[in-house]
Amino acid sequence: MPCVLALETSCDETAAAVVDASGIRSDVTWSQDVHAAYGGVVPEIAARAHVEKIGAVVAQALSEAGIPRPSAVAATGGPGLIGAVLVGFAFGKALALGWELPFVAVNHLEGHLLAPMLEDPSLAYPFLSLVVSGGHTAIYQVEGLGRYTVLGRTVDDAAGEAYDKVARMLGLPYPGGPAVDRLAAEGDPHAVELPRPRPGHLDFSFSGLKTAVRSHLLSSRRRSDADVCASFQAAVVDCLVGRLMEASRHTGLRRVALGGGVAANRGLREALASSGLQATIPRVGLCTDNAAMIAHVGRLRRLAGQSDALDVEARASWPIA
Ligand code: KG4
Ligand code: ZN
Repeated sequence: MPCVLALETSCDETAAAVVDASGIRSDVTWSQDVHAAYGGVVPEIAARAHVEKIGAVVAQALSEAGIPRPSAVAATGGPGLIGAVLVGFAFGKALALGWELPFVAVNHLEGHLLAPMLEDPSLAYPFLSLVVSGGHTAIYQVEGLGRYTVLGRTVDDAAGEAYDKVARMLGLPYPGGPAVDRLAAEGDPHAVELPRPRPGHLDFSFSGLKTAVRSHLLSSRRRSDADVCASFQAAVVDCLVGRLMEASRHTGLRRVALGGGVAANRGLREALASSGLQATIPRVGLCTDNAAMIAHVGRLRRLAGQSDALDVEARASWPIA
């Protein structure tokens, strides 16, 4: 029964976790707050901060799990900021080499895709997974480990990117999603009329929505920031949940799972919970970037007898389907 230590450093969280047959034994996340001053993640600063923290974060994950060493090591191999990815990836390889353990290179998106299984161990294939983060927005049909089909994806901005851009227009701090989410709770979702773009198939488009918000902010009928946030959030949530319901009708699959940083959004969680779909909505810590989801995929890959050679490369771009 594999006990997997995983490292995740693809963006601005330095994370390590241990997962075994009993579930999550430890899950440590160090969030870098140095980027707020720049209004976005600075890749070089992120990589250096990972180098500083990774040793302590791994030591803490092992000590909280109560084990001296795991039976396999996994690390995020991409997609992400490549200099940042390489820190956890090289550190994980070094541990596997030193301990003479199998190494697994894990796709970050696959982590988000399968993380809901950690929340709900009864979540069984096949299911639909909506992954919404700062870099990705897509609906996948999940048939089994490594068997994913994209049913729809964004044709321009990711949902989290749209949140971050709207936040910036309103002068809110980075990352913008949580700030817009908080303000939205105080506003009227019907205050500003905004489009619900429907590009082809089951795809998403958020760039026109962002432009509509900008035009409204420049207009003479400008409503309060809270009203703007509430209206923007209602439009994003309508698009996401609407498409997921269409995907469910298309495929006949009623089991759906939610993942990625934007899955922390209160409006989205509430709308999905009352959509009538059989939804697994993981706790926020499992939706935003974490190492437990990477350990989970690493463990499933080990159970399937898989591992990677130590010369496996990290990739800035790595599609999973
Ligand atoms: O998955 P994630 O932690 O990192 C990536 O892999 O991209 O997602 C980060 C994104 C950011 O765009 C952030 O603004 C957004 O998730 N986000 C939110 C919320 N919390 C984080 N967006 C909307 N509402 C939230 N509560
Ligand atoms: Zn992510």
